[in-house]
Order: sequence, then C-alpha cells, then structure tokens
Amino acid sequence: MIVFKTSAELRNYIDSQRNLGRSIGFIPTMGALHKGHISLINSARQSQKLTICSIFVNPAQFNDKQDFDKYPHAIADDIVLLSAAGCDVLFLPTLQEIYPNGPENAQEYHFGFLETVFEGAQRPGHFNGVGKVVAILLNMVQPDALYMGSKDYQQCAVVKNLCKQMGLADKIEFVACPTQREADGLAMSSRNRRLNEPQRALAAIIYQCLVSIQSKSILNSPFAIVAKECADLMKAKKIEPEYIAIADADSLEPLSEFDPNKKMVALIAAKVGNVRLIDNMIIN
Ligand code: PAF
Repeated sequence: MIVFKTSAELRNYIDSQRNLGRSIGFIPTMGALHKGHISLINSARQSQKLTICSIFVNPAQFNDKQDFDKYPHAIADDIVLLSAAGCDVLFLPTLQEIYPNGPENAQEYHFGFLETVFEGAQRPGHFNGVGKVVAILLNMVQPDALYMGSKDYQQCAVVKNLCKQMGLADKIEFVACPTQREADGLAMSSRNRRLNEPQRALAAIIYQCLVSIQSKSILNSPFAIVAKECADLMKAKKIEPEYIAIADADSLEPLSEFDPNKKMVALIAAKVGNVRLIDNMIIN
C-alpha cells in the first residue's frame, strides 16, 4: 500500500493509474478502522477498482469539542488493517492540506430538511462539516465510486445530496454498504472502543430495540407505545436515548405511525455512558 500525505502526490499517482485504464474506488474515513471499514475496502476491490482510503479526523464536523478530542486515533493499527485488506492507497492529509485557509473558510454546503431532523437536529453544523470535507476529498480524488457505510444512514443521504449539488451524481457511483455487526448485534463503530466492558455488554440493547421495532412494524403496533417500551428498556440499563424514531427510508421524513405502504427506516441515537452511538434498520 502506498501512503500519500499531499493531494499533489495523490493526484499524480491517480492520473498515472487512470492512464493505465484503472477506475477509482474511494473510501473516506476518520480512522480507528474496524471490520465495517474493511467491508467497504472489500467492496471496492471486488469491483476491480484502484482502492483509495483516506484517514482524516475532520474537526469541522464535531459540534462538541470534547467529542473531537476523544475521537480514537490508531494510525499504526489502521495501516496494518488496510495493507492486509489489499487497499492500494492510503491518503493521510494534514489539516493544512485539507483546509489551507482554515475549516471556517472552506466552501459551505447546506442540506435543507436533512439538517433539521435526527443527526442534523441533534448535532447542529455536523452535516455542514461533513459536506465541507467530503467535497474537498472528492475534488482531490475524483473517484468513479464512493463507498460509505449504511450505519450512518443520514450521512449517506447527505453525501448523495452533496454529489448532486457538486454536479457529480452522474459521475460517481454511490455505494451504501451494509452495516457490519458484532456477534450480539452491536453495529461496528470506531466509537465502540471507548465503551468500557459493562457498557459494551449493554450497548447491544440498541440493536435489540431496532429488531423489536421491526417486528412490531409487521403487527402495525402504535409506534408511540413501541418507542416508549424501547426507551424504558434502555433507561433501565442506564442507556440514555436521544431519539427512537421511524422515517420514510428515502426522504427521512419522520413518521408518527408505521405505514405498510412505505419503505421505512428505524433510527436510534443513544448515549452509553458518555459515548454517543447511532444505529438504524430498514423495517420493511
Ligand atoms: O463517516 C465518517 O467517518 C466521516 O463522517 C467522513 C465521511 C469520513 C467525513 O469526515
């Protein structure tokens, strides 16, 4: 695996590979990699793409400074994992490389309604920060395909919208890869490594609640009751739900009741100790 720290070196290499007829698969990450990220690398490799992964912990997307300070860093382990997975290129830019004029002066993107619900509502400015960095990375890498994890369901919607705003929707294939889960169902996330042992053992309740919402959707149970049952279950284990919601899976318009005529997604955000976790499940 080749590691580049500057976009100039990266571009030179990408251009040389394009001249050889290769197409580019891109996986943007913030590092602290796990099997979920590796599944994205595998997807890109399976479609014969030159596989480029970036690791950059983007300060612009953290609305909580403490969350940014505590974000796990594991670059040596990440390099081992990426090399073993057969990733071709790691792009490891500095803050200066991504934001030469500072994050606050980078081009802003807005996502309208998507900024007002769920993660958008709970983390003001978060998606604007994601938009800034992903736009910069897409301009640097100019990939043919972009691979992102479905665990960040709303982020996938935001980035698809970003590609449209950038006029890239027809040029970049957006591939949303399935959420990878631990044996007990907990969605893989870099944040899981901040859980202590008892917290880790309890965190799978989030997944159990999603499964319960899915099964209750088939029975068409009143959603308010289902959501309260889930909230009570979490609170009994000292997990603080931020939202337990269902939404139209395409528009992310929140729904107050199950609608058998719609493709729906159930979404949960909850704090396990001071670690904020999110997960989701398509429910029909
Ligand atoms: O999902 C992430 O890891 C980040 O939000 C992303 C897409 C790499 C942008 O910083």
